[in-house]
Order: sequence, then structure tokens, then C-alpha cells
Amino acid sequence: MKLTSSQRQRLIAAARAASRASYAPYSKFRVGAAVLTRSGRIFSGCNVENASYGLANCAERTAIFSAIAAGDRGIVAVAVYTPTSAPTTPCGACRQVINEFNPQASIICACRTRRRIETRLDQLLPEAFGPKNLL
Ligand code: THU
Repeated sequence: MKLTSSQRQRLIAAARAASRASYAPYSKFRVGAAVLTRSGRIFSGCNVENASYGLANCAERTAIFSAIAAGDRGIVAVAVYTPTSAPTTPCGACRQVINEFNPQASIICACRTRRRIETRLDQLLPEAFGPKNLL
């Protein structure tokens, strides 16, 4: 689905706002994410780290799990914001989780400069394993 420029702006603004809530005392890498659903709702999330390092949850998964928990599975687009000079793309685990709900989801990666990466999940995770393999 092609996003309007206002949807794209709103999504990036929500991801940026969410990055301010990031709990990243170990990596100091503050990430925010926001998910747009077919119903037009936006769910946001941040990364949440833990003293037991391996338990960190990425911003993207926080946002997606929040949409799913609200009963809204129609994920259309995911924005990621980092306060860095170059944009950050979702990690492999998050790509797999996005694939579960929409292999064609739009992915928008924004940062504090004008640089952006705009792509689709199936470009970031080609030939993905997913629900179709278990039918
Ligand atoms: N992180 C995210 O939240 N999203 C990404 O796309 C990349 C990595 C988090 C996980 C961890 O808290 C920190 O960034 C450093 O890896």
C-alpha cells in the first residue's frame, strides 16, 4: 500500500516521539518505532533493555506487539527512528516478526538527518519463512 506523505510524516513523528521513552542504559542506542495499520491507527514502541542483556526487546517488536495486543493485525507500514546521522533498518528478528503479519509492509527508516531508507519488508527479508510454509 502506498502511503500518503501525511501518513509517512505522522508515522515518523510517532517513531521519533517513542524513541524518547527508550530504555537503553546499556547500549545507549535509543530507538523508537511506529506501526500504521489498515484501520489508520498508529501504535508506537521503544527498545527496552535489561541487565540480563539478551532480554532486550527492540522498538519495532514493542510497537508490533502493542498493535497485536490491541487486536489490530493489519500492519501496513513500520517506521523506525534513531537519533543518529544514518538511518537504522530493523534487525533480523524484527524482520521475521514483521513478515508474520505482512511480507509487503512498507518500511521507513528515519534519523536526525534528512537521510532515509524507504523499502519493503520483502526486500529486506527475501524468500522468507512464514505462515505460508506451515499450511
Ligand atoms: N534495536 C532496536 O530497537 N531496533 C533496531 O532496529 C536495531 C536495534 C535496539 C536493541 C538494543 O536495545 C539496541 O538497539 C542496540 O542493539
